[in-house]
Amino acid sequence: MSDQVKMTAMNYDADRPAAENPVKVMDLSLRDGHQSLFATRGRTEDMIPVAEMMDEVGFWAIETWGGATFDTMHRFLNEDPWERLRTLKRYIKKTPFSMLLRAQNLVGYRNYADDLALAFVERAAENGMDIFRTFDALNDYRNFETVVKQIKASGKHFQGCICYTLTEPRLGGDLYNIDYYVNKAKDLDSMGADSICIKDMAGLIAPYDAYAIVKAIKENTDTPVHLHSHFTSGMSPLSHLKAIEAGVDIIDTCMAPYAYRTSHAAVEPFVMSLLGTNRDTGFDIKKLAEINVILEKEVLPKYKHLADDSKFSITDINVLLHQTPGGMLSNLVNQLREMDALDKIDNVYKELPIVRKELGQIPLVTPTSQIVGIQTVNNVLFDTEEERYKMITAQVKDLCYGLYGKTAIPIDPEVQKKALKGYERGEEPITCRPAEVLEPELEKAKKEIGDLAKDIDDLILYAIYPVTGKKFLEWKYGVSEPPKEVRPLTMDEIKAKDALVAKAKAGQLLEAKPDTPEKTANLRTFNVFVDGEYFNVEVDPTGDVPVMAAPAAAPAAAPRPAAAAAPAAAAPAAAPAAAAPAPVAVEGGTPLTAPMPGLIIKYNVNVGDTVSAGDTVVILEAMKMENALGAPCDGEVKALGFASGDTVVKDAVLAVIG
Ligand code: CO
Repeated sequence: MSDQVKMTAMNYDADRPAAENPVKVMDLSLRDGHQSLFATRGRTEDMIPVAEMMDEVGFWAIETWGGATFDTMHRFLNEDPWERLRTLKRYIKKTPFSMLLRAQNLVGYRNYADDLALAFVERAAENGMDIFRTFDALNDYRNFETVVKQIKASGKHFQGCICYTLTEPRLGGDLYNIDYYVNKAKDLDSMGADSICIKDMAGLIAPYDAYAIVKAIKENTDTPVHLHSHFTSGMSPLSHLKAIEAGVDIIDTCMAPYAYRTSHAAVEPFVMSLLGTNRDTGFDIKKLAEINVILEKEVLPKYKHLADDSKFSITDINVLLHQTPGGMLSNLVNQLREMDALDKIDNVYKELPIVRKELGQIPLVTPTSQIVGIQTVNNVLFDTEEERYKMITAQVKDLCYGLYGKTAIPIDPEVQKKALKGYERGEEPITCRPAEVLEPELEKAKKEIGDLAKDIDDLILYAIYPVTGKKFLEWKYGVSEPPKEVRPLTMDEIKAKDALVAKAKAGQLLEAKPDTPEKTANLRTFNVFVDGEYFNVEVDPTGDVPVMAAPAAAPAAAPRPAAAAAPAAAAPAAAPAAAAPAPVAVEGGTPLTAPMPGLIIKYNVNVGDTVSAGDTVVILEAMKMENALGAPCDGEVKALGFASGDTVVKDAVLAVIG
């Protein structure tokens, strides 16, 4: 035991005297917890049953927002993200709220203009946010300037993050070494950070490295230090304990039901481990146990179908082997699977460090993990012997232009030149703060969305997420009917499904269905896997008995449940409503087909336009990355297969040129 942690008393009562220097704890269950384990699908109504009890624990803060929540809520849950803050604030009155803010990326995937960034932070503060945990994927703190100005102006807590990344298996090397982290901490200090967070999103930080970094930062600044480390690799509880020995001020944990796997260490073992020491949390373990009972019985059953239970192991050996964020790897696996190219996964592992280095050895965190990851997949799938970087995503072009900020090392000049050839903003990269080249965007967004945005919060939602945000506002104001997929599951539906699975396991599934009731509009579809066999199950909560519809005994390559599509990030689910290729007549023209499944962002051409081979016809989003698809030949646009917002399958005919 280090001299920093010592036994002071042996008093196990809840009203034991306060420790000399208690470890402060932030709870992540209501944000990073369900984001990590259940694809961010946690609903506000499932947070309310424990909200008041959580408020009594004594957490330093409760993380309630940010990251992928803003995206997932409006896109998949038909929930207004702003409303969640106001609702939870009615139940959690004492404990401050914390959010994860992607600096100038706000809660999206690109740098937004300053006017939008200021408005977003101001409105988040107004709606109840107290602590802004701010990070930039490149650790380029010029991207903090605008949001920090507003955090301070709103009188809120600015927590500056250092994204933790490695190029070696352990801390060291000539780039991401201890000096790097200490210098970043000093930078944050000089920007007025109220606390400094080491943000280890991939679970890479090893216990003795955590000790060394925390100690070094504590020696160089008086600002409180906070450690955020995912469990993914299995090291995080060890790293947190070593960080506590080194004097870390705040740690991040989850309630046990939301802990471990790609999430975080559980709080309860820390409460007991530190009990009676000078770093005792002071928490009442019985109170935590009561919360866990409610979570286990009333909340988590609604989410277990989203959990990745495909493996026995709760740690991810790949993170230890490849130093790559767990969520990123599962995204890559899903992307490859959708392309029927899962056999190329080893090539992706091999290519990944090369692409990362060529793109400036950047940290791998949202959005750079997707940018590097998806470009790697594109390279593996589409590159030829003669040509590398054959299909460059729009985001890689932006990165090469400098739109995300300064990379850790310069981008490979050849890759940069190729990416910027014909780039719309110019072929010469910028070196200034990225947002300086961005035109204000709120007014423009207002003109586009018009009266559908009733207030500034609606407008910001639309400005950050134009396609899905508009769809959401149409649901919100009754312009269109929300699809049944966005409805919450009820406990009755869960019970019906469980009963069915139990029957299936017992081999008692009904073959004949003499009295099959009429299907209603409430019908919901599940993919159920029983001992390697796949069933498509439809559950209709208005009927008495769930029926087995068309038991398509497909092999394992059948469609996966939505959860498997996005275990960590809020990547689009397995596109259950993917539109079939539209009936576009292909005669007399050359079809432009989708090289991958995705979402149509927009068409750059209209029917009747004349295009040259290679001109961008359509922007297709796949795994959040935009791909500009060029005309296959010279000619006239004869037909467009889809519209903006449509989901398409691989090989769908997007346009016909003739
Ligand atoms: Co995290």
